[in-house]
Amino acid sequence: MIQELSYIGIGSPRADEWRRYGTGLIGAMLTPDGPDGAVRLAVDDINYRIAVHPAEKNDFRYAGWGVANETDLHAFVAHLESHGVAVHWGDPQLLRERQVAGLAWFEDPWGIRHELSWGKAATPLSFSTGRTMRGGFVTGDQGLGHIVFQVPDIEKANEFYVDILGFRLSDRITNKHFNVRFYHVNGRHHSLALSEFPGHVGFNHLMLEVEHMDDLGRMIDLLDDHDVDVMQSLGRHTNDLMTSVYIGSPSGLQIEYGYGGLTVDDLSWIARTYTRPSYWGHKLSAVAKTQLPGIVTPLVTAEN
Ligand SMILES: [Fe+2]
Repeated sequence: MIQELSYIGIGSPRADEWRRYGTGLIGAMLTPDGPDGAVRLAVDDINYRIAVHPAEKNDFRYAGWGVANETDLHAFVAHLESHGVAVHWGDPQLLRERQVAGLAWFEDPWGIRHELSWGKAATPLSFSTGRTMRGGFVTGDQGLGHIVFQVPDIEKANEFYVDILGFRLSDRITNKHFNVRFYHVNGRHHSLALSEFPGHVGFNHLMLEVEHMDDLGRMIDLLDDHDVDVMQSLGRHTNDLMTSVYIGSPSGLQIEYGYGGLTVDDLSWIARTYTRPSYWGHKLSAVAKTQLPGIVTPLVTAEN
């Protein structure tokens, strides 16, 4: 059973810019580079959770999902294989790079790579924020944060992510612009959301949640010192109650920087359908209206 979003990896021609962006603006901590020169950032005592690999173009590389232990990893791999999913075991080199004890990976129906792992390395008391902050990031048993993918077919995606992978529906937001489903694997309202974008597959944003509202506010102030666009203004979501702002990054994806997200309890949680994503705010900026929403690529089909 998947229990957390553990880490993510992207590729980017501007990987080096994450050293300043990731620390001075986001507040993450720079950790030693990966073997390929990847910029690696920690947001807690887990050795690193965000890797930006040098690459010729922006691409989403992998989502790392944590399972409890070795027994669960083997059981989950057997479960996936029983549903016809091709699963590959990580070799020792990959385990060393990801700093995990065991790893297996597979792709979703559109080629998005997911890694399952257990035993990710942590160094107690190692984390300090990359800029002055009142507190740190909300992680712990809620994992890294949440990620949002664009998928061409939300029903087909739901079959894979729910029926096979076991993500639990938190709620839906549907209107003439959105068809989005939100899924939890722990107390965090959602660790994954899927947004329908016919003919496309992509990675929209990574959400990081800070413990103190002041650290969200200070990040907004610091935007003046960074060449970063606001994509959606400060606002508050109807479903996870997150107060957040969406900003650009050097690498196509957006970062949702939030405070005050809701936690869910499976014993009492009932999925709802909303038509509005936000109580207030989250207005698309002029820049956001001219750009693709994240690292998005047209789907290559057999016909073309
Ligand atoms: Fe989000």
